[in-house]
Amino acid sequence: MLYDTLIRNATVIDGNNTPGYRADVAILDGRIERIGDLHDARATEEIDAAGRVLAPGFIDVHTHDDTVVIRQPQMLPKLSQGVTTVIVGNCGISASPVSLKGNPPDPMNLLGSAAAFVYPRFSDYRAAVEAANTTLNVAALVGHTALRSNHLDDLFRTATPDEITAMREQLRESLEAGALGLSTGLAYASAYNASTDEVKQLTEELTAFGAVYTTHLRSEFEPVLEAMDEAFSIGRHSQSPVIISHLKCAGVGNWGRSPQLLAALEDAAKTQHVGCDCYPYAASSSTLDLKQVTDAHRITITWSTPHPQVSGRDLIDIAAEWNVPLLDAAKRLQPAGAVYYGMDEADVRKILAHPLSMVGSDGLPEDPFPHPRLWGAFPRVLGHFSRDLGLFPLHTAVHKMTGLSAVRFGLKGRGEIREGYWADLVLFDPATVRDVADFHDPQRAAQGIDRVWVNGVLSYRDGQANGRREGRFLARNGDLRNNFR
Ligand code: ZN
Ligand code: CU
Repeated sequence: MLYDTLIRNATVIDGNNTPGYRADVAILDGRIERIGDLHDARATEEIDAAGRVLAPGFIDVHTHDDTVVIRQPQMLPKLSQGVTTVIVGNCGISASPVSLKGNPPDPMNLLGSAAAFVYPRFSDYRAAVEAANTTLNVAALVGHTALRSNHLDDLFRTATPDEITAMREQLRESLEAGALGLSTGLAYASAYNASTDEVKQLTEELTAFGAVYTTHLRSEFEPVLEAMDEAFSIGRHSQSPVIISHLKCAGVGNWGRSPQLLAALEDAAKTQHVGCDCYPYAASSSTLDLKQVTDAHRITITWSTPHPQVSGRDLIDIAAEWNVPLLDAAKRLQPAGAVYYGMDEADVRKILAHPLSMVGSDGLPEDPFPHPRLWGAFPRVLGHFSRDLGLFPLHTAVHKMTGLSAVRFGLKGRGEIREGYWADLVLFDPATVRDVADFHDPQRAAQGIDRVWVNGVLSYRDGQANGRREGRFLARNGDLRNNFR
């Protein structure tokens, strides 16, 4: 037997939250063919991985990579971290199904300008991903705000019964074409006025499919517990699993409340299917939101359409230079993007360490001065939080970005190193792996990621993408309610 690839002497961390073990791993035809002592076996390519960890490729459950997976298919920010699958369509914004009337409304502009939105049906998007030969595997949610922008002439109100019917039809068609579920971004002005009942009615479409509801909560500030209750009530209404996106305690007045949030999550988990994702930083990033402008913490402007030269500068310095109040400066900068240093590190650690949380980057690939999570989220969990701070063992870090994520989103045959599973794999040095991207210099590849395979094909090696593009579109597979305990 000649295998395609043989990775010898690796420490295998299999994604199941169990400690690593020493083994050889053989790849054939895109899949993990054998695991064990394979010293008599031969392969076209053989690698000695002594001292290295072999883990399942990381699954980035929270991305806004909808259009870059097609337009910039190399996906270096993610591939260089060891990510092999991205879930797109989060926070209520998705590339499809979308028929724009003009410019994309905030925050859909995070996915690109109007020219990037060319997928009126979900099946068009799926076909485009398949035709593009993406580097990474792609699975997709449908955004509530995207549906609203298709059917409402005014996003600052709740939908009428006819509009809800039209949105439901598009959502159903998307679920039939393989969408994972529905995402909302209820904190954003373009969805904030949608009533709970509007969302409940839309999620009724998820029930028959066993599809998931993910949500950027209506508030991550003081009313965050009420917002979590709203999300759970929506999940109960349609018997849908609920994933809370980037769970956090935002705003200085909210610091220290992570135990309350996690208790609420645990409480809900006793009677319904719930989970959350988070990114490993105490700063958030999105479009510049006037409601979040404050002098209580730092705010950095990452982009501004009327003032592109301010990218990377602090709002307070821009306001001082212009000799205007913060809010006036923010108004002049719009449309714009920002990083908000509005979380407490202790809360970030508690949420990240919780057994119900998965890792998602929430990276913004269109941003000229992006939050460093775009390039650094996964190695930061492995290096900084697991190895350096000892927040949890390395196998738990890996589990939060592989096995747990694959199970929750029903990505069958992925997220574990197991015979017969797809060979999405990352080889890294546990002693040196670390995020290099930071808030000053955010577009830098991680250290310590040696090799990445996608569907059995080596796609990244020693800091270089090799141009191989073996990613696939991953359609929803089965009833996701079966994947929660
Ligand atoms: Zn969000
Ligand atoms: Cu997001």
